[in-house]
Amino acid sequence: MARIEIEHLKYQYPATTKLALDDISFSVEPGEFIGIIGKNESGKSTLCQAIAGLVPNFYKGSYGGKVMVGEIEVKTVEVNEMCKTVGIVFQNPFNQVTGSKLTVYEEISFGLENMGIPKVEMIKRIDEAMELLDIIKYKDRNPFDLSGGQMQRMAIASIIAMQPEVIILDEPTSQLDPQGREEVFQAVQKLSKKGITIIMVEHNMEKIAQYSDRVVLLNDTKLVAIDTPQKIFSRDDLDSFGVEAPVFTKICRGLHLKNEETGCYPVTLEEASRLFQRLVKEESHNE
Ligand SMILES: Nc1ncnc2c1ncn2[C@@H]1O[C@H](COP(=O)(O)OP(=O)(O)OP(=O)(O)O)[C@@H](O)[C@H]1O
Ligand SMILES: [Mg+2]
Repeated sequence: MARIEIEHLKYQYPATTKLALDDISFSVEPGEFIGIIGKNESGKSTLCQAIAGLVPNFYKGSYGGKVMVGEIEVKTVEVNEMCKTVGIVFQNPFNQVTGSKLTVYEEISFGLENMGIPKVEMIKRIDEAMELLDIIKYKDRNPFDLSGGQMQRMAIASIIAMQPEVIILDEPTSQLDPQGREEVFQAVQKLSKKGITIIMVEHNMEKIAQYSDRVVLLNDTKLVAIDTPQKIFSRDDLDSFGVEAPVFTKICRGLHLKNEETGCYPVTLEEASRLFQRLVKEESHNE
């Protein structure tokens, strides 16, 4: 599985006067679940496109530095070749549907047909992808008759069937209701457990805190930090980047309840309640 290495990445879209990414460097280990956060226009989507190779090969513009996915230097590979290694899922599931296929099954087979995958292998991959995303029951349904969450899972299945090593999801749940959002997060976590590297932009900080191994914090096209959710959300300067901590972190901060081992505030309900139980136990011992 591929390690992602980004070194001094700088990028400016054509016909603009300002950098969209300014000297970004970090690396991601194979199988990590990375959340990307930052306020509007901080560069989250552009960073995603740069890992997928759409920046610079589709968007053009001026580019400096290096993005490696495993042994591949992303900018040297054509977009339709790169998508075999790095799959990208966008915000709106509607925009990702071909519109020409009558069933979910045909929709998922579309990318594989284009890749010239032999029939037997294709059937195996489609079945596996549908199983993983829990959409086998919709296989004969028209893609446009699915709910938002189901449609987004179909879009992810189409990508999974191509067996990429990295999947990038740019706000994949922002158009979904809470149930659809939960379905997508559960599905993505399953992919992560199978060893696929996940890069996900998401505005819901509770979800980012719950699912990410590490979080990339961007501000105004620059990298502020890449660290555990606990470290990122315990930063005293978080407000200045236009980012709110998860509600559990805010409550614990208000109560000055830090985890002494890590020096950080809890970021999930489970973590907060574990800390609380420990404090109650210690308190009752002291009495
Ligand atoms: N296709 C484009 N052409 C020109 N400039 C662009 C394009 N897409 C983004 N930009 C610019 O690049 C910078 C980073 O934008 P980007 O869309 O990557 O931020 P973002 O963090 O994803 O924002 P949002 O939260 O609104 O999705 C911004 O200044 C933006 O205006
Ligand atoms: Mg964006």
